[in-house]
Amino acid sequence: ASAFASLRTNFHFQPPNNWMNDPDAPLYYNGWYHLFYQYNPSEAYWGLISWGHAVSKDLIHWLYVQPLAMVPDHWYDENGVWTGSATMLPRENNSVIPAIMYTGSTNESVQVQNVVFPKNSSDDLLVEWTKIAENPVVTPPTFVNVTDFRDPTTAWRGKNGLWTIAIGSHFRPTHTGMALLYQSMDFVSWELLPDKFLHSVDGSGMWECVDFYPIVASGEWTGLDTSSVMSKEGGEVKHVLKASMDDSKLDFYSIGKYDAESFTFTPDDTDLDLTRGYRYDYGRFYASKTFYDPLLQRRILFGWINESDTRQDDVNKGWSGVQSMPRQVWFDNITKDSLIQWPIEEIRSLYKRNISFTDVTLESGTRIKIEGAKGAQWDIVLSFAKPSVECILQENYTFGPFGVYVLSSEDLQEYTGVYFYLIMESIYNKSTSYLSQKTFIINDLTRSSLASHVDNGTHGALVTIKEEEDELTLRIIVDHSIIETFAQGGRTVITSRVYPTIALDASANLYLFNDAHQEVIVRQFEAYEISNTNMHYINPLTR
Ligand code: FRU
Repeated sequence: ASAFASLRTNFHFQPPNNWMNDPDAPLYYNGWYHLFYQYNPSEAYWGLISWGHAVSKDLIHWLYVQPLAMVPDHWYDENGVWTGSATMLPRENNSVIPAIMYTGSTNESVQVQNVVFPKNSSDDLLVEWTKIAENPVVTPPTFVNVTDFRDPTTAWRGKNGLWTIAIGSHFRPTHTGMALLYQSMDFVSWELLPDKFLHSVDGSGMWECVDFYPIVASGEWTGLDTSSVMSKEGGEVKHVLKASMDDSKLDFYSIGKYDAESFTFTPDDTDLDLTRGYRYDYGRFYASKTFYDPLLQRRILFGWINESDTRQDDVNKGWSGVQSMPRQVWFDNITKDSLIQWPIEEIRSLYKRNISFTDVTLESGTRIKIEGAKGAQWDIVLSFAKPSVECILQENYTFGPFGVYVLSSEDLQEYTGVYFYLIMESIYNKSTSYLSQKTFIINDLTRSSLASHVDNGTHGALVTIKEEEDELTLRIIVDHSIIETFAQGGRTVITSRVYPTIALDASANLYLFNDAHQEVIVRQFEAYEISNTNMHYINPLTR
């Protein structure tokens, strides 16, 4: 039981107990950030879902709000209060009021959309929510199955003042995943935009948790409100469309253009359309959602990180599911084809102490234990000098692995490898042949746990390294049973869950290692120990 207690995360958001899945309706209102989440308050596995609710001043220190924001108490959500999003509706004198649309699974398991407003908009904590009398406001159209119609997006507002939302669905005969569009003037009465999809991809299956938002594609990378079609400086704006693929349980996104006249999204590169192109995260990360933070003018992403142990373990632990670190997202101005994700700056307020050094050579075959780095809560930032092309060729066209062992026991019986691995690929075409360098980032779980029944699969992905970049960089966030790896400044991200049995708490160590046949240089190493956040309850009635 004590090992189980040591696996609970500390600075990642988790409910007090039991099951959590998707993040819902993140928003900022009157000085507070709000996070709602798919919550089964009575078991550590998925079941009858309510909306849990937490508030924070900094997206790091969370307070659990009681009572639950929404519970299944109407015929139209009797089978579950499922995922939804918030839209800030403008009112007189520059104020806003949040409206939430969510999916209800009815008493007959039909997926319908419902709207709620705060009961009292002068309550900054938004404790109570009113399900409007008109619910359900949207029911499934005849051409889709009634169980394939869920998870409304944040609405965006067009020139004509109409609100538009997208809802994920699936056309079964061709297995086509799609986002249907609905419009409303007052957020209460909604109409299907007939014969139109925001976007669809044949063969992709059911789209869950669609997210759709603008990003600045050139110039200052501030975030944009969901309705913006222009940046402040008048620079180019692109749109991101994300869908959570029910078939694979993976979050894919595509970057492209939104045509506000035809209400369609077109990927910049059809080879990078949903299910073919980029993922936010190449590990465990699903049902994610962004919101625009008007306070600091940035767009923030949360994703649900599920467990990879067994259901019985979850029952024994008494909980299941974690939210990712809130990540700021923006367009990668260097690769110009994908997004950057970076843990929010506020994490710095938790930095306790810092171990740092520069310019250390790791000889071939070394494992260097970082002295004084015991603990299971870290934010580690490091960079390596990029190995030269000659070095890679000398090593039989592969170089590595080299990187870090996190959550390592003293004797390296348990550890998780986070490392780079480089290969040189010979590309032949008709007239020429040339070499192409590929860099992989890997979270290697093969030795993460002495327990034999937990997932020990390895997560890996390609990282783009530009010729002019002379360093390979890593940021690794470690929180007991979660490892979030951000390679090359957040260009490629991999999140993994691990369940050590001995590398727990103060028995967990950090190592640097190099298994390449030549030396590797660590240019910069910094490890910040993270202090406890002490999430706790507030009872708004007695606050
Ligand atoms: C995604 C999802 C959503 C649904 C919710 C139910 O994980 O299946 O499509 O609304 O979870 O909890």
